[in-house]
Amino acid sequence: MHKGSNPVKQAHLLPLPLRQVDRTYVLSGGRKLIYFAGCDYFRLSSHPAIIRALQKGVKSTGISVSASRKTTGNHPFFDELERALARFFKSPAAVLIGTGYMTNLVVAQALAGRFTHALIDQRAHPSLQDAAAFLGCAVISFRHQDPAHVAQILSRLGRGAVPLLLTDGVFAHDGSIAPIGEYLKTLPAKGIILLDDAHAAGVLGKNGRGTVEQLKLSPERIIRTVTLSKAFGVYGGAILCDESIRELVLTRSRMFTGHTPMPLPLAQAALASVRLLERDHALRQRLVKNTGVVKSELRKAGLQLPETPAPIIGYVPKAGDEVAKLRATLLKAGIHPPLIDYPGGPEHGYFRFVLSSEHTMPQITKLVHSIKSALAIR
Ligand SMILES: Cc1ncc(COP(=O)(O)O)c(C=O)c1O
Repeated sequence: MHKGSNPVKQAHLLPLPLRQVDRTYVLSGGRKLIYFAGCDYFRLSSHPAIIRALQKGVKSTGISVSASRKTTGNHPFFDELERALARFFKSPAAVLIGTGYMTNLVVAQALAGRFTHALIDQRAHPSLQDAAAFLGCAVISFRHQDPAHVAQILSRLGRGAVPLLLTDGVFAHDGSIAPIGEYLKTLPAKGIILLDDAHAAGVLGKNGRGTVEQLKLSPERIIRTVTLSKAFGVYGGAILCDESIRELVLTRSRMFTGHTPMPLPLAQAALASVRLLERDHALRQRLVKNTGVVKSELRKAGLQLPETPAPIIGYVPKAGDEVAKLRATLLKAGIHPPLIDYPGGPEHGYFRFVLSSEHTMPQITKLVHSIKSALAIR
């Protein structure tokens, strides 16, 4: 940073820094405020067992293998984590990738030239949008979560089309779930889905296996990508696929070949995290309960929320003064106002409230009361 550069003056480039403390609080503007944001759904990033695994990892292996897995960087911990992820998600195979964002790019590089068309939800995550460009085929956007539009596009493309459909499983702005079952019915036999399950992995489904488990689907024609930075509270990403796709990734993706895998202590922390989420069903039950309480109270008060168990509640303010009112009410109640101002998003930004398994009932009650009072609903 240049001498004298001022973070307040750069607020148009990045929001002001926020320090997360005490698992459900942040320090912001000199105040300790309840934090209903981010994607650390179980607060595993500050879980003592995960931190211990990371510290032990630093001592035993150092930080980085400092080499691609295709050269000398294929440490046994990566294989172990891949096996654990494949077991957790009931997937034939898993491939670890440095970040969740990269998972989609790597899959697309590996599959380049195999599809005639990429059909992508118009609100798909930027990593899927970027990935589509690697596929080397025509890219067509379809209306958000609209299987009828997908069918219409496919009928126009004719019988010879071999499409790849790209979509998020859970959409981050409102927690809604993509109609994957409908897409599968609409696609021709050779068509498959690249499903970015970043927000559902570890969270949705009885065992946390994500959108596929939540919708009771077979993952056969679906390549799933997940991040380890949200529910698992660590860092990195993984592709969940069958052995043939794994082989394509390992042999055809230049990005896979040319990148250093995640730091080893993080791989060990992620392994601890996967094991914890595998055995501790109470975490998921608490998240479901907290989410259910907030959504049912807000629905009773008349808010329209998508039917989804995802712990995300989006609220788009009707005008600028509603932003100010909700913001002020939340701050008065000691809650950090999670106003998101994303490029291309709603004019006044939108509030994105995120529940965690670690929020207490008094915190949750405060949130519900503040939203209801600011929006004058009851
Ligand atoms: C849908 C989706 N995909 C991919 C990513 C990227 O994951 P990572 O942060 O691990 O790179 C995110 C992160 O915000 C996401 O929301």
